[in-house]
Amino acid sequence: MDDMIRKAAADLAASRHAVALTGAGISVESGIPPFRGKGGLWEKVDPMVFGNIETFEREPAKVWEVLIKDLKELVDQARPNDGHKGLARLEELRILKTVITQNVDGLHQMAGNTDVIEFHGNCAWQRCMDCGSRIPTAETDISRLPPRCKCNGVLRPDWVFFGESIPVNAMHRARQAAASCDLMLVVGTSAVVQPAAYMPVIAKQSNAKVIEINPQRTPLTRNVSDYLVKGPAGEVMNAIFAELDKLL
Ligand code: OAD
Repeated sequence: MDDMIRKAAADLAASRHAVALTGAGISVESGIPPFRGKGGLWEKVDPMVFGNIETFEREPAKVWEVLIKDLKELVDQARPNDGHKGLARLEELRILKTVITQNVDGLHQMAGNTDVIEFHGNCAWQRCMDCGSRIPTAETDISRLPPRCKCNGVLRPDWVFFGESIPVNAMHRARQAAASCDLMLVVGTSAVVQPAAYMPVIAKQSNAKVIEINPQRTPLTRNVSDYLVKGPAGEVMNAIFAELDKLL
C-alpha cells in the first residue's frame, strides 16, 4: 500500500494534464451508499425496473416513492469528503483539469472543482416531461408525488435513466478529456456501466497512465489500469497528499 501511495504521488507530481473519472464509491464517505455490492442501492431496488425510463413514464409516483425521494434526501444532507476535496486540491495545484463523474450528487462542484462533466446528469434539477422547464430540486414541492410543474406536467430528475442516452455534450467532452490526458485517476467506480467504463480505455490508448483508487479490484484492474491503490477514496487521497506535498 505504501509503495502504491508513493508511486501515485510521484505520477501525479509528474503529470501536466490529469483527468479523473469518478463513481459512487467516492461519495460513500459522504454517507451516500453505492449502487452495487453489500448495502448498495440496487440490492433494495431493482435497477432494471425502477432505474428505467419506461417504468418512470408508466408509474412516475412509484419511482419517486421507491427511488428518487430517498436519494434526494441523502444527497441534500451530503457534504464533500476528503476524496472530493483531494480532487479539488489537485485542480488548485493545476495538475487535474477535468472531472468526469457518473455521480448525480454535485459534490465535486461543492468541493471546488470547476470543470465537472456530469456523465449521468444530476439530481439538482428537475425537468418537466411536458414543457421542458427546468426547476431546482430544492424548490420542488414533493409533498404530493409525483411533483408537478406549473403546467401540470410530471417532473423528473435531470439525470440519465437506464434506457436513455448519455447527454451528447457530456459524451463528446468526456471522450475529448480522456483522449487528451496524460494521467487518469479512476476513483470509486465498479467500471461495469458503459460507456463511462470505456473512458479509461480511451485514456490508455492515448498513452495516459491509468491509476485506480478503490477498496476492490474492478474489470479495469491490470487489463487497463497501470495499478490499483487499494482503499477508501478519502483515506487514500490524504495519504497521497502526505507524499505529494513533499514532492512539490
Ligand atoms: P457502483 O456502485 O457500481 O460501484 C461503486 C464502486 O466504489 C465499487 O467498485 C466499490 O468497490 C467502490 N467503493 C466503495 N466504497 C468506496 C470508497 N469509500 N472509496 C472508493 N471506492 C469505494 O457505482 P458506479 O461505478 O458509480 O448509473 O456505478 C455506475 C453507474 O451504475 C451509476 O452511475 C448508476 C449505476 O446504475 C445510472 O443510474 C445510469
